[in-house]
Amino acid sequence: MSEPVTYINDQGVALITIANPPVNALSQRVRAGLLAAVQQFGADDSAQVAVILGEGRLFIGGADISEFGKPPQAPSLPDVINAIESCDKPVVAAVHGAALGGGFEVALGAHYRIAGADARFGLPEVKLGLLPGAGGTQRLPRLVGVEQALTMITSGTPISAAQALEHAVVEQVFDDSNMRQQGLDFARKLQQQGAPVRRTGELPRPAGDAALLQEWRTRLERSARGEVAALVALDAVSAATRLDLVEGLAEERRLFLSLMDTPQRAGLIHAFFAERQVAKLPELAGLESMKIEHIGVVGGGTMGAGIATSALLSGLQVTLVERDQEAADKARNTITGYLAAAIKRGKLNEVQRETILNDRLATVPDYNALADADLIIEAVFESMEVKQSVFKTLDSVAKPGAILATNTSYLDINEIASITARPESVIGLHFFSPAHVMKLLEVVVAERTAPERVASAFILAKRLGKTAVRAGVCDGFIGNRLLSHYRTAADHMLLDGASPYQIDKALKAYGFAMGPYAVADLAGLDIGYATRQRKAADAHPRDRYPAWADELFHLGRLGQKTGKGYYLYPEGSRQGVEDPEVEALVAKARQQAGINPRTFTDEEIVSRYMAAMINEGARVLEEGIAQRPLDIDVVLLYGYGFPRWRGGPMHTADQRGLKAVLADIQRFAEEDDHFWQAAPLLEKLVEQDSNFASLNHP
Ligand code: COA
Repeated sequence: MSEPVTYINDQGVALITIANPPVNALSQRVRAGLLAAVQQFGADDSAQVAVILGEGRLFIGGADISEFGKPPQAPSLPDVINAIESCDKPVVAAVHGAALGGGFEVALGAHYRIAGADARFGLPEVKLGLLPGAGGTQRLPRLVGVEQALTMITSGTPISAAQALEHAVVEQVFDDSNMRQQGLDFARKLQQQGAPVRRTGELPRPAGDAALLQEWRTRLERSARGEVAALVALDAVSAATRLDLVEGLAEERRLFLSLMDTPQRAGLIHAFFAERQVAKLPELAGLESMKIEHIGVVGGGTMGAGIATSALLSGLQVTLVERDQEAADKARNTITGYLAAAIKRGKLNEVQRETILNDRLATVPDYNALADADLIIEAVFESMEVKQSVFKTLDSVAKPGAILATNTSYLDINEIASITARPESVIGLHFFSPAHVMKLLEVVVAERTAPERVASAFILAKRLGKTAVRAGVCDGFIGNRLLSHYRTAADHMLLDGASPYQIDKALKAYGFAMGPYAVADLAGLDIGYATRQRKAADAHPRDRYPAWADELFHLGRLGQKTGKGYYLYPEGSRQGVEDPEVEALVAKARQQAGINPRTFTDEEIVSRYMAAMINEGARVLEEGIAQRPLDIDVVLLYGYGFPRWRGGPMHTADQRGLKAVLADIQRFAEEDDHFWQAAPLLEKLVEQDSNFASLNHP
């Protein structure tokens, strides 16, 4: 194995280069190499200035995340950075691409920083449940002040090279980001000037008054939703305002180690690796993706227009087909509106919008316009008859090899595929609404879908900036199937005595973005009604029916869009107000079912909701609908408001212990052994004293 850090003396300038692909993470070997190189520089009397460089696409992507949670190995990063800062000859960090986390801390330990125009600087540790633990919380506030340091450290969002220059984080920014050359030139200038060392850690303690820090604390507490890292990072920055560097670094280390031990850190790091793992499917290894440049969309409703917008924003050509010119024009208007919103969000400029509308978008009432499309996706009414008729037409107009995709959220894609003469080209692409905003995409693989088409769908998803998860065919695929089950568990609690508002509050307190009844109001209560109608034929005599939900529907209380659902939304407000009338409707349903209501603790609400979610997750796994537990975790994190810091339902189950989850289900089954039947896979894992994680990397 070649050395990850090299030292070259180029006529008095020591070039210390880190090469640890793909992101130059600061693994133990890199830390050891960097320390040795710094010591060599110290001892090298013929070198007057050192330049630290990263090889490849970026400077340093941070500490090596895969080492977290394992026993620490010397040298520690703080020791390496202290050694850099202590050098008595100038050290320059020459940054291109990105200096993130420990990478930025290395740069802060250097005496001078320069950057290529493409560089970003950030401390994203809070996104992994940590805080910068190698001096970042002590040196950055000394360099840029408490306010700017807190902005960067508590959000984890990087700044650009231009912003870094503005905040005097860097000395100079170069358009040409060949940092080896820029670094050498800059170092020679320092050499000529006999420039001194300039230690960030020796800058005066930053001023931070108590009122300012308290204001930050209040703000962070409000937005944290149970996540602790940003608040602890605030403690570390506060320490910088009170303590000298050595004491401050010790306090930072103590706080860092306390976070390292939390389940939140484990959950966030699980999420980090899971979202990268979802696209890595053994069945796709080595497969070529076909080229996708021109997308066809059938149907210009909210979903079709959203999908078209997503494709347009990613630089693709789009042809959208509607049934007549009027509907086609309406779809164009909807897309124009979405593009205007994208301009407001800074995702697009006016010139780009004009190019899109004039050159890259066609909205027509003619299926023949799809003849050139590489992939056609339909987003028409959810009915097998309608979808099959669309697919019959697509089969006759699409070019050979084109992918034919359906955006259905529950129909049997095998049945849709069977109407065509090319079932190998048919696939499900289940977008979430609004499709141009939501990141999740379920790639639904039907029985006869060819693996090359699946590979192409994953490449397309990446181009669209979506996180794609492979799912198999069943009612609801991964996400909606779990949703239907945990929502039923919530409905049972309602029937037995809980209020919808208590349930929503308990789940929000657990960390969900929204509770299930606020979600129902957002999606529209007509959707739930239609689902119940559709599933009525399969109903079991022991199923417990949410009669109040039908009543809300018949009263025209369809949720946010009608100003009333489970909550009231006075004057178009999106913030729901509790409504005693709904409680009365639920009470009536209980009475009719002969139920004597009882109370629920918030803890029991969460246990039942989570047990239902995990149990159905286990079923989805054993049926092969999801291939790995991590696929389920990513679906819930990206599409269903699951708290990221808990890592997803299957990870949460492992953290709690599968034995305890199974015991919950068995206890709930004592009252209702129809709904609460433990998934055989869950029982098997408990028997083997194993966990879901063991199925992530079989
Ligand atoms: N430690 C270990 N592995 C890392 C890593 C890190 N700090 N950062 C990235 N990787 C790995 C990824 O897991 C991925 O591995 P894979 O190819 O086996 O899936 C690979 O490096 C490439 O990362 P990816 O995110 O796909 O590349 P990118 O070019 O889209 O983004 C970064 C590069 C550095 C911006 C991004 O990886 C990132 O944000 N990393 C985390 C940075 C961070 O939080 N650092 C602070 C750590 S305390």
